[in-house]
Amino acid sequence: MVIFKKVADMQSWLMAQGRPVGFVPTMGALHEGHLELVRMSKRDACLTVASIFVNPTQFNDPADLEKYPRMPEQDAALLDGVGCDVLFLPSVEEVYPPGVDLAVRLDFGSLDKVMEGEFRPGHFGGMATVVNRLLDIVKPQKLYMGQKDYQQLSIVRDMIRQLALSVELVMCPTVREPDGLAMSSRNLRLSAAMREVAPVIHRTLQWSGEELKTGREASEISREAMDKLTEAGLRPEYFEIADGITLLPVRHYGDSESIVACVAAFTGDVRLIDNIVLR
Ligand code: PAJ
Repeated sequence: MVIFKKVADMQSWLMAQGRPVGFVPTMGALHEGHLELVRMSKRDACLTVASIFVNPTQFNDPADLEKYPRMPEQDAALLDGVGCDVLFLPSVEEVYPPGVDLAVRLDFGSLDKVMEGEFRPGHFGGMATVVNRLLDIVKPQKLYMGQKDYQQLSIVRDMIRQLALSVELVMCPTVREPDGLAMSSRNLRLSAAMREVAPVIHRTLQWSGEELKTGREASEISREAMDKLTEAGLRPEYFEIADGITLLPVRHYGDSESIVACVAAFTGDVRLIDNIVLR
């Protein structure tokens, strides 16, 4: 695996390879979920580039940015182990050259207003900006992203459409621990007690799907799901049963062809998100 820190160095190296590129953007502290994205790109016979960049513009909470786990050496070894071809490890100045305005200011309609958009103001603007910037640097044919961040994926898909970017977005199903907890870099910050409680998030998502299929109203199920999470010792921010395309709330199972349940909850000071496609 070749490691680049400079945009120009990586671009001239990639140009010389003359092969289709598959790109896996990450913020590091890698786990099996990230590695699965790399494996997918390798299976598609792409020259695979992973990036590790803890993007300051998408953190609305400075403490969260500061506490975000950083372990580049260990990450590089994991990427090398699954056959990743290139690791891009840029500095903030490489991604955001001083004095250059690279901000993406698109109208994402409801997509960036609900759920995460409501609780993490500014987050999706920063996320879209960095993904667009990284796509411009790497110029991949395929972009691999996880269903774990369903709303993020929806916004990136819409950005690709609005900017007519010539990249194919490939979605990777959420990789989970054996007890159902979605893998996340933030899981590293869970205490043993919190780690034991956290799988209730996935169980509650599954339960909501079963309830919705019985004909119950979504808002009632969501309220009960919030109570279940609170009783388990979490502090849920939202539990939404939403249309899988617009991300707006649905009322009944029959209301939409595509339905997703999404949740964000704190365990201690660690904020976890997860979702499940119900239809
Ligand atoms: P990060 O949280 O590091 O995630 C990088 C990619 O891995 C995202 O596409 C995410 O959806 C995917 N991923 C995370 N956990 C996963 C899991 N358990 N199963 C499958 N895929 C999983 O998401 C970001 O970074 C950033 O917002 C980024 C897109 C890199 C922009 O800064």
